Amino acid sequence: MSYGDVTKPLRGPEMGDKEANVYDAGLGILIEDGFISKINDSDSLISEFAPSWNKRTTNHDGALIIDAGGNAIIPGFVDSHTHLIWSGDRSNEMALRQSGLTYSDIADIGGGISKTVSSTRKSTFQELVNIGLDRANRALKLGTTTLEAKSGYGLNTETELSLLEATSKVNENTNCEIHATWLGAHDIPKNMEKKEYLNELINDQLPKVCEQGIAEWADVFCEPGWFTTEETADIIEACNGMGLGSRLHVDEFTDSGGLSLAVEMGSVSADHVACSNNESRSEADKSGVMQTFLAGTQYVLGMKEFPPMRECQENSWAFSIATDFNPNCNTISMPFVGSLATHRCGIDPLSALAASTRNPSTTMGYSGGELPGTISEKSKASLNILKSKSLDSWCQTPGMNPILMTVANGHIVK
Ligand code: NIG
Ligand code: FE
Repeated sequence: MSYGDVTKPLRGPEMGDKEANVYDAGLGILIEDGFISKINDSDSLISEFAPSWNKRTTNHDGALIIDAGGNAIIPGFVDSHTHLIWSGDRSNEMALRQSGLTYSDIADIGGGISKTVSSTRKSTFQELVNIGLDRANRALKLGTTTLEAKSGYGLNTETELSLLEATSKVNENTNCEIHATWLGAHDIPKNMEKKEYLNELINDQLPKVCEQGIAEWADVFCEPGWFTTEETADIIEACNGMGLGSRLHVDEFTDSGGLSLAVEMGSVSADHVACSNNESRSEADKSGVMQTFLAGTQYVLGMKEFPPMRECQENSWAFSIATDFNPNCNTISMPFVGSLATHRCGIDPLSALAASTRNPSTTMGYSGGELPGTISEKSKASLNILKSKSLDSWCQTPGMNPILMTVANGHIVK
C-alpha cells in the first residue's frame, strides 16, 4: 500500500493499481472529530478503543462501532461539477432532439438554459433552498459527500446572488459538503445585448460575489454560440484580478481552444473537454489543470462519441469524472457516471473510482492532507460501505444504488 501524496491526482496505470490503492481485508478505520485518525487491523483497534464490544451492540466505551461485515469500503464521491439549484422541467427536450433538433437548435427556439432561467426566476428563495437541499440529500444517498454547485440560472445580479446564497444555506443544512461556483456567464439573458451583459458580469455581479464571499470559483460556458474564448478570457482575467479562481465549461461541442485558455488562465479544472485536442490535454496535465469529463451529457444528448478517458489514461494525463447534474442531464448519481466510464469509455472500475474521488478532491481548494477523496490517515471521514464485498461493484449497477451506508464528513447518513 503506497498511497503517495493524496493532494496530487493519480494518472495512467497508477489509477487502477490495486496493490498501491486498495487495503487488505480485515482492517478497521478509526474516525475522530470528522477525520480518519487511524487505519489498523480491526481487532487491534477494537481492543484499544472498545475492548468490551460484543457485536450485539454498537455503542461501546464511548466509541460507535460500525461492522461493515466484510463489505468493501470506498471514499465518498467528490462530484466536482453540478448545476445544483434551478427549478422547472425540460424533459420535453428529448422528443425535440428525436425530431432532429440539436442542443443549440433547442436553445434557439427558447428551450435550454433560458427556459430554466425563466422558471428559476419565478421561484422564491425558500423554494430554491428546499430544491437544493432535496438534491444534496439525494446525492448523499448515492454516496456523494462533497459536491461543487454552480449558479447560472439567474443571469442577473439579483438572482445569481440569491442562487449562491441559497447554495450556502443548503450547505449549512446537509452533511454533504458543498462548494459554490459563480456561473453568471452561463448564457446571455433574453432581451439584453451581449456587450451589456458582459459589462454587468464584470462590473456588477463579480464585485458583489467577491464582496459577499459566496463563491469559491468562477465559471464560464466557453463555447461558440455562448461565450467566445476572448470573452471568457476577459471575464476570468477580471476574476483572477479579484482573487477568484476558475473552473470552466470548455470544448463541449467543438474545439475552440477552450482547454488551452483554461491553462492560460490557471483554472483548477476544465470541464466537458470532450473535443479538446491532445496538445492542449498534455499542456493541461503539465500545468496542473484537471480535465473533468461529463459523460452523462454525451449520454443524454445521444452522442456516439464518449469522452476519451482511455486515451487520457494511456497518456498519463490526469482526469476526473463528474455528473454535470442539470435540467438536461438530470442525474446526480456518481455510480451512474462511473458506469458510463467503465461500460462506455473503457476504463476499469478502480481507475473510475480514482477519477470520482481522489482526483476531483485535489481541485476543491483544500490545503494540507486533510481532504476527502481517499481513505487515509488525516483525510476527511467521508466514505461509503458498499452492498457488496467487491470494490468494483461501485459502478456496476446502473440505475440501482450500490451504497449500503455513508459516513459524510464524520456524520453517519441515515
Ligand atoms: O454543462 N453546457 C452548459 N451547461 C450545462 C447544461 C445547461 C443546460 O442545458 O441547462 C452543461 O451541460
Ligand atoms: Fe455543466
